[in-house]
Amino acid sequence: MSTTASNEAQTVACTVENRIAWVSFNRPEKRNAMSPALNRQMMRVLDDIEFRDDVGVVVLTGEGTAWTAGMDLKEYFRETEVLGMAGTRKAQRESYGWWRRLRWFQKPTVAMINGWCFGGGYGPLFSCDLAFASEDAKFGLSEINWGILPGGGASKVAVELLNFRRAMYHAMLGENIDGKTAADWGLVNEAVPADQLKARVTAVAESLLKKNPVALKATKDAIRRVREMTYDNAEDFLVRAQEAANSYDNEGRKEGLRQFIDEKTYKPGLGEYDLSKQKKA
Ligand code: ACO
Repeated sequence: MSTTASNEAQTVACTVENRIAWVSFNRPEKRNAMSPALNRQMMRVLDDIEFRDDVGVVVLTGEGTAWTAGMDLKEYFRETEVLGMAGTRKAQRESYGWWRRLRWFQKPTVAMINGWCFGGGYGPLFSCDLAFASEDAKFGLSEINWGILPGGGASKVAVELLNFRRAMYHAMLGENIDGKTAADWGLVNEAVPADQLKARVTAVAESLLKKNPVALKATKDAIRRVREMTYDNAEDFLVRAQEAANSYDNEGRKEGLRQFIDEKTYKPGLGEYDLSKQKKA
């Protein structure tokens, strides 16, 4: 591997333990700012883990004090702009590309926000299905502070996740909020003390690993898709989405019903059926 390729490979770290893939932004000395190299590497890592049998859940976190300080202002903006429109569009494709890939990822995804999360970081934040932050993490749409609008989807993420007044204030003032406020505002699911963050995320990931994976993929896509549908369109989409899911796994729900109604070994209202007893398709 050439030095350039090896440097690029190091921008993202990934370890798989007990079916949880821990994927990290790995430029701590640059507060995990997303450079074109990091964006390309993240797509490679996602490619590698998406359909691996030994991966059931993906956690996206950051090495060091940052989750990500957003786009790399030097490498993503200044150094690509000098290449003209082609350079700018290429850099945008590389970043938006892996965020989109992550939005529709096969496996459940959890953002574990351990520190700074700025601007372009809202793209992958929204891409993850769930998000847990350290209480002292800091979130900000800092674009206004250096003179641009929150692009790369960041404005869209703000209005998707926050109410109108909060989105407007957050984007126009460029003030940071901590993890606790981010949880109050709905930017993340929960904020927990920093020393409990990994344990909480691990517990959530372990719960997800016990659920039917085909149903999980259908569910996460359904929640994203129906946001933009009328009630009638959503009703129709959901019927078809379940029928499509049945074409991948026609035994899961039958087994779930069997264990409840016939075997009486669990109650769906109180937990999930035992996946290990399900016949393989
Ligand atoms: N782009 C490029 N380099 C960055 C970025 C970034 N987004 N963030 C940090 N760095 C670099 C710094 O330039 C510095 O590099 P150097 O060591 O070569 O001088 C190094 O990372 C460490 O950064 P410090 O500022 O020294 O770290 P500190 O912990 O004091 O502050 C903080 C962290 C608050 C995150 C600060 O680095 C910062 O404000 N970064 C920019 C955040 C931002 O506004 N991001 C852009 C959002 S807009 C968008 O994404 C489109």
